[in-house]
Amino acid sequence: MTIRKSPKWQNEEFRSIVDELELKLRIGSEHLPSDYQEAVQESLEYCDLLGMGRLMETLGLPRPPTFDINSDYDSNVNRTPRSESAEPVEKMILQERKIVFCGLRLGFPMGLSSSVLTASAQWIAYYASKGFDLITYKTVRHRYAPPHPMPQWVPLSPCPQFGREDLLSGRPVIRARKLSWLSERQRQTTANSFGIPSQAPEIWKKDVARAKATLNGYQALAVSVYGEENTSEFREVCDAYAQTAIHAVDAGADLIEVNLSSPNVRDYSGRRVEYYSDPDRSLEIIRVIANRMEDKGLKVPILAKIGYLPEEELLNFLKVVGPELDGISAINTLPMPIENEDKNNCFPPTAHGASRLIAGVSGDGVRSLAQEAISTIVKWRRQNRPSLGVIAIGGVMTPKDFVTYLRIGADVVQCCTGAWLNDGLAIECRNFLHSPIRN
Ligand SMILES: Cc1cc2nc3c(=O)[nH]c(=O)nc-3n(C[C@H](O)[C@H](O)[C@H](O)COP(=O)(O)O)c2cc1C
Repeated sequence: MTIRKSPKWQNEEFRSIVDELELKLRIGSEHLPSDYQEAVQESLEYCDLLGMGRLMETLGLPRPPTFDINSDYDSNVNRTPRSESAEPVEKMILQERKIVFCGLRLGFPMGLSSSVLTASAQWIAYYASKGFDLITYKTVRHRYAPPHPMPQWVPLSPCPQFGREDLLSGRPVIRARKLSWLSERQRQTTANSFGIPSQAPEIWKKDVARAKATLNGYQALAVSVYGEENTSEFREVCDAYAQTAIHAVDAGADLIEVNLSSPNVRDYSGRRVEYYSDPDRSLEIIRVIANRMEDKGLKVPILAKIGYLPEEELLNFLKVVGPELDGISAINTLPMPIENEDKNNCFPPTAHGASRLIAGVSGDGVRSLAQEAISTIVKWRRQNRPSLGVIAIGGVMTPKDFVTYLRIGADVVQCCTGAWLNDGLAIECRNFLHSPIRN
């Protein structure tokens, strides 16, 4: 196949892009020597900047990730996703496999977990149009909070599947010099440290309502809620969680996801606050939210978002908190120390001087621990609480990863890093599940 060169395309730089694209089409990017891969990657990035996303899609070329990690949180969230110039997806036929999850109808059991990809109505509308049916609005708070300084999200050097011993060892993971989204799209592991930025409720509530209005009748919007770390009073933490949840239901949330597991915030005394490793406090938070909602006559399913726990601790969490929950989402990012190649910390301290040595690891390398956690949850559910909804999250980079979670017994599968690198992942999962030949 040859790309027709318009007479307008005289510019040398532009011609070389087209030549590179032709080369890719002839050879296939995965077979290119690495220096060519880099050239093709740069050409494609340039094409994307020039708004040629549609051409790239027509040619079957991967496009750069939707969120630009070289720009900060605010500039990403306040614009449309990078690939939005691509063909509108309404025209595509999205295969269905309807299910009911926590009383909500979904067209397909695939969704997008809470993250920077779901921080505004326009990003949610974009991913919803690409077939992600259960979308969780990025964690919000009862007050405004700014993001941590740059860098906020970095690629890591090739990682193994992390195991429990990697989490315990405290061995740092090394930042990669460059994001190889063309050659390593399915093998990418990343680390982020955004610090739960949030608009004030009067702003995010309007945006949640806008996001909800963009969904179709077989899609649903969860809203992830967080409490407060700048207090020594646990009661105030619970109050902040409950206030935020009530705002979210007011704004139209179909589900409340209680974020008990962000590795990127520290309390007033400098400690990380991940309540899921403390079942009694987790239970208290869930109870306060449920009671306050009941007092106001609000009836919306409540899910807890937890991070990785070894089997025994996870079973204990489920025994204590499980009976109070409608569902559970697992797992959040893995908390690990991240260093540059020169052994310096990758993420500088916050404006208040809090350490960011530990950040949240996501993507390919977390899949094994995430699968272990989902297996434990599904086993517990079978024996103790069959109505508990289970959302599996962690390392879904390909349709096979998606299907593996369904086989383990999850009701819905969500992804973040995989959908950032490949916004067509839900469509690929739909096609994969419905195609008669699977390998
Ligand atoms: C950049 C980034 C931001 C995230 N922000 C949130 C968040 O605000 N709330 C939350 O519950 N999880 C957050 N997560 C965690 C994801 O929802 C998900 O649990 C985790 O990344 C594992 O899934 P993955 O391997 O598909 O990325 C974030 C992850 C990433 C990569």
